[in-house]
Amino acid sequence: MKNIAILGSTGSIGTQTLEIVRNNPDLRVVALAAGSSVEKMEAQIREFHPSKACMWSEDAAADLRVKVADLEVEVLAGMEGLLEIAVLPESQVLVTAIVGMIGIRPTIAAIEAGKDIALANKETLVCAGHIIMPLAERHGVAILPVDSEHSAIFQSLNGELIGRSGRREALYREIGIEKILLTASGGPFRGKAKEELRNMQAADALKHPNWTMGHKVTIDSSTLVNKGLEVMEAKWLFGVELDRIQVVVHPQSIVHSAVQYKDGAVIAQMGVPDMKLPIQYALFYPDRRPLEGRRLDLFELGQLTFEKPDTETFPGLALAYRAAEAGGSMPTVYNAANEKAVDMFLKGKLTYPGIAELIGEAMERHKVIADPSVADILETERETYEHVAHREQR
Ligand SMILES: NC(=O)c1ccc[n+]([C@@H]2O[C@H](COP(=O)([O-])OP(=O)(O)OC[C@H]3O[C@@H](n4cnc5c(N)ncnc54)[C@H](OP(=O)(O)O)[C@@H]3O)[C@@H](O)[C@H]2O)c1
Repeated sequence: MKNIAILGSTGSIGTQTLEIVRNNPDLRVVALAAGSSVEKMEAQIREFHPSKACMWSEDAAADLRVKVADLEVEVLAGMEGLLEIAVLPESQVLVTAIVGMIGIRPTIAAIEAGKDIALANKETLVCAGHIIMPLAERHGVAILPVDSEHSAIFQSLNGELIGRSGRREALYREIGIEKILLTASGGPFRGKAKEELRNMQAADALKHPNWTMGHKVTIDSSTLVNKGLEVMEAKWLFGVELDRIQVVVHPQSIVHSAVQYKDGAVIAQMGVPDMKLPIQYALFYPDRRPLEGRRLDLFELGQLTFEKPDTETFPGLALAYRAAEAGGSMPTVYNAANEKAVDMFLKGKLTYPGIAELIGEAMERHKVIADPSVADILETERETYEHVAHREQR
C-alpha cells in the first residue's frame, strides 16, 4: 500500500491523480488540499476518506467542516494546514498539483520530512530550484516529474541508469546528455502573425488543440511562457545547462520530449496526449502499471512534424531564457509578472501581446538577488505583483 497526500486535489492534475487512485487499490489517499472548491472537496472526502483535508481560506474550511461533520476527517486551513498535510507521518508521497509559488513551502517541508515528491507545480522549481534540488539530494528523496515533457525526459533517461549506482542527479551528469529536446505543441496560435494576435481574446486562447488543462496553464501554453517555465524546470530536474535545452515545436503532441546522448542517439517517449500516464508513472516509479485508454496508432497518424519556435511572435520563450540566464530572483519575476498578466488578460484588462510586454517590463526594472532565500522569493513575488497592480491602474 502506498499512501499519498495531494495538494490541489480539485484541479486538473489533482482530479486525474484521483482517477489513478480509483484504478489502483494499493494507493491510499491520506490527505487532500484545495483553494476554495468546497463542494468538490466534500465529494472527494466522501469517496476517498482522507484523515485530513485543507482549504486555503478559513471561510471555505468552516463551510467544509459543517458539510463533513458526519465523517472522521480533520479540516485544516491556510498555509499551516498545507504544511501539516505535507509532513503527515503516514504519507509517503506528496503530489504537488497546486498552482503558484504557494507550493514552495509545503514542498520544502515534505522533503525535510523525507517524503518523495510527485511534482506538477512547476513554479516550485522555477523559483526555488536552487533550494529544492540540493535539499532533496541531502534528504535522499526523489523528485518525480509529473509534467508530461519532464516525465518523457525522465523515462528517456531511465534506461541509461541501469547498472549505475548513486544519486540520480550525479548520474545525470555522468551519462553525457548532449541535448534535451523539449517539445511544445505551439498552442492554438501557432503560425499566426504578430498583428493577428493583437485582437485575440481569452476564449480564443483557451482552445488548446491537444490537451485539456486549467485556464492559467492553457494561456501559458499559447504564449509559450509555459514552455519557458518548463525549460527552467528541466534545467533543475536534470542538471543541464540552458544551452543544451532545445525547444522543438511539435503540433501533434505525440513525442512528449527526448534526450540526445553524446553518441548522437536520440531516445524519446511517445504516446497519445494523456496526463494520467505521467502521473501514474511518477506514483509507481520504477514500475510501469497498466493504464486503460486510447493507444497510439502510427498508421492513423501518418506523420509527425517539427518546427523551430517562433520567438519573434511569441517573445515569452526568449524572455524565459533571459530570466534563467540572469538566475537568482529573476525567474520569480518572470513567473509572478506572467501570473498577474494572464489574470488581467482573462478579465479583459490586457491585450494578448500585453502579457509578454508586461513580463519584459517587470524583468527590466528588477535588480537580481543572487541565491535568494524563500523569504526573498516571496518578497520578490510581492513586489512584482505590486508593480503590475500599479500598471493595471494606469
Ligand atoms: N493541467 C496540466 O495538464 C498540467 C500539466 C503539467 C503541469 N501542470 C502544473 O500543475 C499545477 C496545477 O495545474 P492544474 O492545471 O491542475 O491547475 P488547476 O486546474 O487550476 O488546479 C489548481 C489546484 O490548486 C488548488 N489551489 C489553488 N490555490 C490554492 C491555495 N492557495 N491553496 C490550496 N490549494 C490551492 C485549486 O483548488 P480550487 O479548485 O479550490 O481552486 C486546485 O485544486 C500547475 O503548477 C501547472 O503548471 C499542469
